[in-house]
Amino acid sequence: MLSQGDTYAQIRSRKPDFSLSRELYADPGVYQTDLEAIWYKEWIFAVPACELAKPGAYATMQVGAYPVVVIRGKDMRIRAFHNVCRHRGQRLCAKVSGSTTNLVCPYHQWTYDLEGKLIFARDMGEDFNPQAFGLKKVHCVDLSGVIYICLAAVPPPIADLAKTAMTYLAPSGLGDAKVAFTSSIIENGNWKLVIENNRECYHCGGSHPSLCRTFSDNPKMGAMDGPHSASPEILEHWDRCEAAGLPSRFVHHPAFQWRLARIPLLNNAESYTMSTKAAVARRMGTMPFNDAGSLLMYHYPNTWNHFLGDHAITFRVLPVSATQTEVTTTWLVHKDAVEGVDYDLKTLTEVWLATNDEDRQVVEENQKGILSPAYEPGPYSPIQEEGVIQFVDWYCTLMADRLAPQPAQAAE
Ligand code: FES
Ligand SMILES: [Fe+2]
Repeated sequence: MLSQGDTYAQIRSRKPDFSLSRELYADPGVYQTDLEAIWYKEWIFAVPACELAKPGAYATMQVGAYPVVVIRGKDMRIRAFHNVCRHRGQRLCAKVSGSTTNLVCPYHQWTYDLEGKLIFARDMGEDFNPQAFGLKKVHCVDLSGVIYICLAAVPPPIADLAKTAMTYLAPSGLGDAKVAFTSSIIENGNWKLVIENNRECYHCGGSHPSLCRTFSDNPKMGAMDGPHSASPEILEHWDRCEAAGLPSRFVHHPAFQWRLARIPLLNNAESYTMSTKAAVARRMGTMPFNDAGSLLMYHYPNTWNHFLGDHAITFRVLPVSATQTEVTTTWLVHKDAVEGVDYDLKTLTEVWLATNDEDRQVVEENQKGILSPAYEPGPYSPIQEEGVIQFVDWYCTLMADRLAPQPAQAAE
């Protein structure tokens, strides 16, 4: 099991533009360091806000060692708390999601309101001060309809992403959306393999027959270097969408921690369906046409999203162990769209359910190969795997920064 120092050495000695060492994808010590240096410090996508439609609606999630509950208050604000009772530490909510008027601990019924205040604790004596035992807060922001949390005492800045999300996500009307379907799977692979796999389409032709009906795996067609530099297909799509009021141009974090861009689907396809036509009759928000393509948004370490004319799909990645990762996919449709009338659930979900399962298989086989002593890091394609290179560079730069010995220690 690698220490933080060993992990730092592995990061420092990695070969640029090559996949990482076996240890970085599999070692339990590296996993622990990933949690501490990244997952407990960065903003993490939690849920689409519309999943918690009413006061008292909550969702739970596990980020490494931390159980977290995200809940909508009576004031309609969404907050996040450590899902741990302040009495003797019971996990408060065991369910993945639900709705409640107060958070009642199942052990001795200490009761917290939706804002985390302790409002009932039986027989605690005269001197007991309930105000000192409110639920511990977790930072929580609503980025125009997607909720992010951060476990750090002082979270990294998120204002730039919040500002970008405000303009880019507005036409999708996520506040007026509802959850049509959620799927959660465990992939037997390290979280970095899950993200790497998402960041390239080199594998799409060989793995994703249904997705490839509507999503181009041609890196030339998907090429984007800046808001005015992209393939002719994409530039034309941006002009058309922006003329119709849809912010679309490529915008990204300086170190590529996040990126947004609206891309056209193949052959004017409207949606990720087998027929290529829209799956939902009622469009999202103020989307002006069906063939607006997909607004792609990723944010490391844990999410990628597709915002289309007729629906949106959010993906949440959470590490479970060094070689296990949970991937939760949520399909959103307009809140007035009626299942069976405006959309058929199978038509809406089949392409990405299949794609997720295909991705699970490649990630699991990737992990199995990497566990072999014969594995050695291999070169990424500069044409096909630029996104992977960006992710691995982001990861290694951040880890190197956070694990670097402090000057005082270095001098010892
Ligand atoms: S541990 Fe929660 S009420 Fe006792
Ligand atoms: Fe894939």
